[in-house]
Amino acid sequence: MAKIAIIGYGKMGKEIEQILIRQNHSISAIIDNESDWEVKFADFLKSDVAIEFSTPESAIENFKRCFDNKIPLVTGTTGWYDRLPEVIKLCSKNCNAFIYGSNFSIGANLFFKINEFAAKLMNLQSQYEVSIEETHHVTKLDAPSGTAITTANLILRELKRKKGWELDSQNPDTISIKANRVENVPGTHSVHYASFADTLNIEHIAHNRSGLAMGAVNAALWLIQNKGVYDFKNIFHLVSQIQNN
Ligand SMILES: NC(=O)c1ccc[n+]([C@@H]2O[C@H](COP(=O)([O-])OP(=O)(O)OC[C@H]3O[C@@H](n4cnc5c(N)ncnc54)[C@H](O)[C@@H]3O)[C@@H](O)[C@H]2O)c1
Repeated sequence: MAKIAIIGYGKMGKEIEQILIRQNHSISAIIDNESDWEVKFADFLKSDVAIEFSTPESAIENFKRCFDNKIPLVTGTTGWYDRLPEVIKLCSKNCNAFIYGSNFSIGANLFFKINEFAAKLMNLQSQYEVSIEETHHVTKLDAPSGTAITTANLILRELKRKKGWELDSQNPDTISIKANRVENVPGTHSVHYASFADTLNIEHIAHNRSGLAMGAVNAALWLIQNKGVYDFKNIFHLVSQIQNN
């Protein structure tokens, strides 16, 4: 059984704790703010791996504490990806065991793959206008969601007629992303291809946070055995071989 630190004890941290307890892992430390970092630092150092779901503002400092102390790290925090090159460099130098991902559910990662394929097909179907829509709970801090940005970026790699993405775009050269904030929605993402004649929708609806938390736990167990820096969407098929319960 692994010794796992939980960094960020909000909605996701609590869901992850339940899975770790059910699977009989040992929780080395639960850290939810700067004063926890001071009080629980010695316990944190005993971890085989850390799982981090905090805030865009605190994430990078949390990453550095893991990298500097060679604790493998899985992070699901979003809203910091503009600093990804710097973070990858820091990790490669100090620790080299890091998984980040905008969405840890297997269903959402299948949604990414399906969207890559659909965008490729749509190169020959210019009558369809693509747009992305995401809906989350009102306490989500970043907009659009990391999952919506990941989806936009993978469509942009395949669909030649679009040059970027924008929130509520009116520009025909960019993909418009609409971000809705509604009470109690864990996360819904849709890609719409609309023409005069019809609309094709590709949608992923998270019913709760269990798939997200299970993916992060499995990623952490996988990372204890595997060095390197990974985007979860590129390794989810390997991680999903780990047995769930
Ligand atoms: N990748 C995914 O699959 C996925 C899924 C859900 C949420 N998220 C993202 O994960 C993050 C957390 O989501 P949530 O719904 O649990 O949010 P939340 O607001 O419920 O919890 C965030 C927690 O981080 C804690 N925190 C603040 N500063 C900290 C610090 N310095 N050290 C440690 N913890 C600190 C807060 O006290 C809070 O409890 C967000 O960025 C969210 O967008 C990602």
